[in-house]
Amino acid sequence: MKVGILGGGQLGRMLLQAAANYTVETYVLESDLDCPAAHLCHHFTKGDIRDFETVYQFGKNLDALTIEIESVNIDALDKLAAEGVKIYPSPAAIRIIKNKIIQKEFYKNNEIPTSNFLITNTIEELQKHEYFLPAVHKIGEGGYDGKGVQIIKEPSEFSKGFNAPAVLEKMVNVEKEIAVIVCVNQKGETAIFPPAEMLFDPILNLLDYQVSPARVNEKVLWKAEAIALKVAKSLQSPGLFAVELFVDQEQNVWVNETAPRVHNSGHHTIEGNFSSQYDMLWRIILNYPLGNTKPILPAAIVNLLGAPSYSGNAIYEGLEEILKIENVFVHLYGKKETKPGRKMGHVTILSNDYQELIFQANKIKQKLRIIS
Ligand SMILES: Nc1ncnc2c1ncn2[C@@H]1O[C@H](COP(=O)(O)OP(=O)(O)OP(=O)(O)O)[C@@H](O)[C@H]1O
Ligand SMILES: [Mg+2]
Repeated sequence: MKVGILGGGQLGRMLLQAAANYTVETYVLESDLDCPAAHLCHHFTKGDIRDFETVYQFGKNLDALTIEIESVNIDALDKLAAEGVKIYPSPAAIRIIKNKIIQKEFYKNNEIPTSNFLITNTIEELQKHEYFLPAVHKIGEGGYDGKGVQIIKEPSEFSKGFNAPAVLEKMVNVEKEIAVIVCVNQKGETAIFPPAEMLFDPILNLLDYQVSPARVNEKVLWKAEAIALKVAKSLQSPGLFAVELFVDQEQNVWVNETAPRVHNSGHHTIEGNFSSQYDMLWRIILNYPLGNTKPILPAAIVNLLGAPSYSGNAIYEGLEEILKIENVFVHLYGKKETKPGRKMGHVTILSNDYQELIFQANKIKQKLRIIS
């Protein structure tokens, strides 16, 4: 089978690592010639994944296409699907998720618990909603890695909002953020990974370490799994879906957002689970039976972000020391240039003991630095 991936970042790279186990011919479309996925695929095409003609030409001779980022030309995917190219997930599912306004309306229409929201188009309009604060303002399209999200606690912060179509959602009193990855095969059968628990860097607002399975009680686990399954089923498409959830102080579970693709919150499944999220997506695309999502051991991951105030050719300081630790696995994404906060790689740690996981995660965060 000839399968294309739209986007050539680290998610595409790890997807290609898993593809090497199967007889699949891989194609990548991405505008950056030197991207993380460029050297691991059979065929690389340089081009803009947002351009109709580029995506159509790239896909028209392939059997199937998948994405590693949502900002793709969906009209081209519609045309390809009509001509018989299989798209994972369906263009309709990507269209719902790509725009945060449509995504929130989808949750509401399907009675999926999500924080209350309203839609704004300008800052002027936003300023009328003082009664709705504290809230979170999210740009409809074009945001990524926290860049399209502003927390607005009081009216003086309205100016931080977006002067573009956006959602204003009620601030959830978050106790814990977790993510559940759901796999849906071509027959509609599902498999679900245990939730991962995320911990964030308060300054960069980027995920910076996580443990899995998440430390939540059984009731929260059931709710999270039921909600994630409901999201995936309501999208009515085969594929892999990562559902980000909030657990609030009262132990209610709310959907934050969904990614219709392999996801950061599933990096640890490469070593930590019997079948990884990447392996699962290939099983779905190649129409093989779904794999075993159970954990082999609990895992933590640390994101390796470019150190503040270093830009240029990346140097990995402390790598040897980290590799000496038992059950530590380093993933460097092959990005030549580092920048403050840029995602350059991640490290997975496996251990039966959560305290050990967190101890080692902190050690790795301190010792392994990406400078230039
Ligand atoms: N309604 C909310 N209440 C409390 N905190 C929120 C809310 N919405 C978002 N946040 C916080 O902001 C973070 C980023 O929000 P979100 O996940 O919507 O955007 P993102 O992941 O940066 O966007 P993208 O998917 O475009 O990369 C969340 O992980 C959470 O910590
Ligand atoms: Mg998010």
